[in-house]
Amino acid sequence: MPGPRPLTAARARALRGAAAVPGDKSISHRALILGALAIGETRISGLLEAEDVLNTAAAMRRFGAQVVREGAGTWHVRGVGVGGLAEPGEELDFGNSGTGSRLVMGMMATTPITAVFTGDASLRKRPMGRVLDPLTRFGTTYSAREGGLMPVTLTGAADAMPIEYRVVFASAQIKSALLLASLNAPGRSTIVQNVRTRDHTEKMLRAFGVEITIEPRGEGEAISVFGEAELKAVPVEVPCDPSSAAFPLVAALIVPGSEVSIPGVLLNERRIGLIETLREMGADISISAVRQSSGEEIGDLTARHSSLRGIEVPPERAPSMIDEYPILSIAAAFADGRTIMHGLEELRIKESDRLSAIAKGLDACGVKVQELPDGLIVDGGGMKGGATIATHMDHRIAMSFLVAGLASREPVTVDDTNMIATSFPEFENVMKNLGAEFR
Ligand code: S3P
Repeated sequence: MPGPRPLTAARARALRGAAAVPGDKSISHRALILGALAIGETRISGLLEAEDVLNTAAAMRRFGAQVVREGAGTWHVRGVGVGGLAEPGEELDFGNSGTGSRLVMGMMATTPITAVFTGDASLRKRPMGRVLDPLTRFGTTYSAREGGLMPVTLTGAADAMPIEYRVVFASAQIKSALLLASLNAPGRSTIVQNVRTRDHTEKMLRAFGVEITIEPRGEGEAISVFGEAELKAVPVEVPCDPSSAAFPLVAALIVPGSEVSIPGVLLNERRIGLIETLREMGADISISAVRQSSGEEIGDLTARHSSLRGIEVPPERAPSMIDEYPILSIAAAFADGRTIMHGLEELRIKESDRLSAIAKGLDACGVKVQELPDGLIVDGGGMKGGATIATHMDHRIAMSFLVAGLASREPVTVDDTNMIATSFPEFENVMKNLGAEFR
């Protein structure tokens, strides 16, 4: 592990230009995983080449897939077929990535092999029982540290049973792990979820030729997969990640005189709650050149400096912007009036306890903030800054407070920027090219 790399952001002049945002993290993990389960060669373009995704690529190799990097963002995966995974032999280290580790647990849960899952200090604190316990319904067995923590040893079911299961958490990772496990169980497995979380797994499975049905169930849906499936390799174009685009977007809104464009951003309706929320706060964000790419809608965003006002964010919107609350809280600090956010208990178990990390960071920067068990209340009006922020191994906390420093009265320092490489390795350069003052 390298030592901590602090960075300071200072008040910037107008930000201008186009921000090149990397590929979507969720779609990148899934492209590698489905590629490894498919027959034939999956050609991926625009893959996010960040630590989280590279750890998933390394794991796919350990399971026997051929994974080759052809050039920047262009990768080929030659899969082993459903049921054809090899035993990895060595421990699988997923670094900081909850998504990579949990999806791969699902992927191998119905193949009779054993694998050991581990990760960095942040990932080793995150609950894995929420994925592992439902996987035992297929006949999978596991051992973990007390509390369902990594390292986890998982043995896939030899004669997997199909399941019917209701996911109680608003988690796309759990849903996706169960859908991936269903692929090697005979017959129909049905996964029910009370809320609609991101649907990239479902869309990509269908594109790879898997029989999958989705029926509305109240506010949520019931998803059925027909197992012993054969996946046929198809090309995947990965669009730009809206969760990464959020940082230059909010920077443009809060730094006076700014106008920033971000081309080719994923506009999946289950991922763009932040844009809707910022627009309700008065943000000038336009979307143009809307088009289709690998079954997903994408478009070009332009954001201009705006006077924002505080709002109450509808809690039911949380799944469509779950990773965006750190940067939304920064926007709220620069808005007029109060922003109220509820329904966020899941934020306590992300890469850090984000409710606590945001509240402490805002407070250190002179913003009036209340931390609630399931949310935050932020009183806007601008930010004094002049503090060093503890990022707790959390990339989104680091990037959010660096953006804040571009518009606060005094500079803001984050204690460590190493984790930014897990999702947006070029963040510093992309922001500097727009005119950000980082030093
Ligand atoms: C993700 C799902 C979300 C999100 C994460 C990516 C995915 O996690 O926070 O960054 O790709 O499925 P949960 O499933 O825990 O909500």
